[in-house]
Amino acid sequence: MYTAGLVGITGYTGMELARALVSHPQINLTVATSRQEQGKKVADLYPFLRGHALGNLEISDADAKELAEKCDVVFLAIPHGVAMDTAAQILEAAENLKKSVKVIDLSADFRIKDIATYEQWYGVTHTQKKYVEESVYGLIEINAEAIKKARLVANPGCYPTASILGLYPALKNKIIKLDDIVIDAKSGTSGAGRKASVPTLFCEVQDNFRPYGLGKHRHTPEIEQELSLIAHNDITLSFNPHLLPIQRGILTTIYTKLTQDYAQEDIQKIYEDTWKDCPFIRVLPAGQFPETRYVRGSMFCDIAVTVDKRTQRLIITSAIDNLARGASLQALANANLTLGLPLKAGIDHVPLCP
Ligand SMILES: NC(=O)c1ccc[n+]([C@@H]2O[C@H](COP(=O)([O-])OP(=O)(O)OC[C@H]3O[C@@H](n4cnc5c(N)ncnc54)[C@H](OP(=O)(O)O)[C@@H]3O)[C@@H](O)[C@H]2O)c1
Repeated sequence: MYTAGLVGITGYTGMELARALVSHPQINLTVATSRQEQGKKVADLYPFLRGHALGNLEISDADAKELAEKCDVVFLAIPHGVAMDTAAQILEAAENLKKSVKVIDLSADFRIKDIATYEQWYGVTHTQKKYVEESVYGLIEINAEAIKKARLVANPGCYPTASILGLYPALKNKIIKLDDIVIDAKSGTSGAGRKASVPTLFCEVQDNFRPYGLGKHRHTPEIEQELSLIAHNDITLSFNPHLLPIQRGILTTIYTKLTQDYAQEDIQKIYEDTWKDCPFIRVLPAGQFPETRYVRGSMFCDIAVTVDKRTQRLIITSAIDNLARGASLQALANANLTLGLPLKAGIDHVPLCP
C-alpha cells in the first residue's frame, strides 16, 4: 500500500480526490491539509464520507517535512502561485530524508515551460524555475513514459485536457490548417473553485449562459504550448470559454479548417485508430455527440468529429468532467504511473448518469 498526502482538501478538486481515494485499492490518504479547517475530521467537512475510515482522518495544516516523511505521493490541490513553493519544499524535504516522494500539482505552476509566458499570463513571479524544467506535463495518453519516471507532474488544466485530446489526432495526422483553430469551450461553475465570488453566485449563474475571458483566458498559452509540440510548429489559436449553469462538466466545440477534401469516414477512422488503445477516450460513432452528463464523475473524454463539407471544416466536439478527468482523477492516473501501479487503479469509475 502507498500513502498519499492531499494539500487543499477543502477545495472542489480536493473533495473529488478524497472521494476517489476512498476506493483506491493501493493508495491510502494519510495526510489531508487545510488552513481553515485544521483540527476537524474529514467527515465533518464531507458528510458523504461518514462510515469510511478516511472520514476519521484529522485535517492538519500543511507541513512539507511531515508530508515528505509520511507520504509516497502528495497532491497539491491549491491555487497557482502557492503550489510552486509548496512543491519545492516537499521535494527538498524528501531529498533531505533520502526518500522518494512524488508530487502531483493540480495548479498551473509547472505547466508552462516558458517562464516569461507564465508570468505574463498569470501575473505572478515564478520562484521555482528549476522545477519547471524538471516537471512533466501529465497528459497520460501523450506523456505516459515520461510521467512514469517523473517525481513532479504538472497535472493539465481542465479546458486544455478537453481541447488537446480533441485536436491531437488531427494535428498528428496533419489534416487541419494550423492558423485557423477556434476552441469554443463551456464549463460548469465548479471550474472556478469553491472560494466565494460574485460571478459564480447561484443567482448570477442559474438560468444564464455567458462568455468570459475571451482572448485572454490563462489556459490559452498551455493549450498552444502542447499543441505546438504535437504539430512541431508554433500554433496561435482562439480559445473562447463560457460559463454554463451546471455544477460540473466541460464541452468544447472546436472549429478547424481541413487541408484537403476529406470524407467523414477518413477522419472517423483517423480518430478511432489514434485513440484505440486509450481506455479513457471514447470516439463516438458518426452522428453522435458528446454530452457532459455521460462523462460526469469519470475519467472519460468523449470525442466526436464532423466533416462539414460545405465549409471544408472539421468540427471536433469533446466532453469531460472538469473535476474528474480535468483535475482529480487525472491526478490519480498520474500518481498511478509515477508509483508503477496499473493506470486504471482506482479511477475506472462508470459515469454518474442522471
Ligand atoms: N476546479 C477545477 O475544475 C479545476 C480543474 C483543474 C485544475 N484546477 C486547479 O486545482 C487547484 C485547486 O482548485 P480548486 O477548484 O479545488 O480550488 P478551490 O475550490 O478554490 O480550493 C482551493 C484550496 O486551496 C486552499 N488554499 C487556498 N489558498 C491557499 C493558500 N494561499 N495556501 C495554501 N492553501 C490555500 C484552500 O484551503 P484552505 O483555505 O482551507 O487552506 C482550498 O482547499 C487550483 O490551482 C486550480 O486552478 C481546478
